[in-house]
Amino acid sequence: MSTLFSPFTLKGVTLRNRIAVPPMCQYSATDGVPNDWHLAHYTGLARGGAGLVIVEATAVSPEGRISPGCTGLWNDTQAAEMAKIAHAIESAGAVPGIQIGHAGRKASANRPWEGDDHIAEGDPRGWPTLSPSAIAFGGGLSKTPQEMTHDDIARVKADFVAAAKRAHKAGFKWLELHFAHGYLGQSFLSVHANQRTDEYGGDFAGRSRFLLETLAAVREVWPENLPLTARLGVIEYDGRDEETLSEAIQLTHKFREGGLDFLSVSIGFSTPNSNIPWSPGFLAPVAQRIKAETALPVATAWGMDDPQIAEQAISTGQMDLVMMGHAHLANPHYSYQLALKLGVEKPANVLPTPYAHWLARYRGAASVQ
Ligand SMILES: Cc1cc2nc3c(=O)[nH]c(=O)nc-3n(C[C@H](O)[C@H](O)[C@H](O)COP(=O)(O)O)c2cc1C
Repeated sequence: MSTLFSPFTLKGVTLRNRIAVPPMCQYSATDGVPNDWHLAHYTGLARGGAGLVIVEATAVSPEGRISPGCTGLWNDTQAAEMAKIAHAIESAGAVPGIQIGHAGRKASANRPWEGDDHIAEGDPRGWPTLSPSAIAFGGGLSKTPQEMTHDDIARVKADFVAAAKRAHKAGFKWLELHFAHGYLGQSFLSVHANQRTDEYGGDFAGRSRFLLETLAAVREVWPENLPLTARLGVIEYDGRDEETLSEAIQLTHKFREGGLDFLSVSIGFSTPNSNIPWSPGFLAPVAQRIKAETALPVATAWGMDDPQIAEQAISTGQMDLVMMGHAHLANPHYSYQLALKLGVEKPANVLPTPYAHWLARYRGAASVQ
């Protein structure tokens, strides 16, 4: 009996299994508005059988986009198109989630396939970036951000609140605050990006303040019966791992007290000078530690798509959900492949009936049945 294919209930939401598609930017929107590409992409992922489909990092304000192609939720036109996506995901049997965020000093970048670096100064497609301190990320992201004023901080928190309200109105049932990957939330926490001397910098309490205040503000508007979650980079692999991890654990305790329901455990990406030990499932023991020390339900991604690694992560209680990104880009029906490989009874039933009916009767290649 596969535990990966067992349901998971959090607050008033039940996922049909423990497989989640993590947020993955498509860099294909115009003025933050999702289009036919996004609708087809997310519908396909939801039809593929995952329990949870989280829509890509969606900016809370124009300057919070990573690239000019990123989606946004700062206006009602964007929200109306997002509502179609949320509805399509839910109609296909998955729970519709969305990640909202602000890219901070990594904003105003070219699309990954057009360089992944900052848009050149003077290019009208770019814009000034914001960060806790006026320190550039480095490498190709060399633009020096403006140090945020208290007014900027208050405005961005209000932008998160407005985006959360729009996400709820659009029909999303799972909200993820993007506090990872070197974007704005992570930058406040990280000493690599935050050298402030006011109450939003300095010690752990100062560097946590923006994240905790944003969570508190969003908690007030996001319904109590729906999961409010965050993605946090808990480790940087920059030689300060135990220090960073123990801060992340302290912060997760505070998140929990502040009403967070779930943590997606990820990497900090706050410095180009890191040495990440890429290998299948390498972050699983880190996620396990966060869960053990905070009692908050967790998930992680990063090479968790091997069937045995994924099954074991759930059956041993290392984590509550397994996130799989690239595998779903390669094959939106990847959940079905996992069900076949794990010997799930009636594996085709992972897929919608118009597919499942025929696959259950097929006599062709084993990888299809
Ligand atoms: C095309 C692409 C876009 C991504 N966009 C986001 C994003 O919007 N937000 C985020 O938190 N992570 C993003 N990520 C990271 C993924 O969510 C995931 O953590 C990563 O792909 C590792 O998981 P995997 O090994 O299963 O692919 C992206 C990854 C890819 C490949």
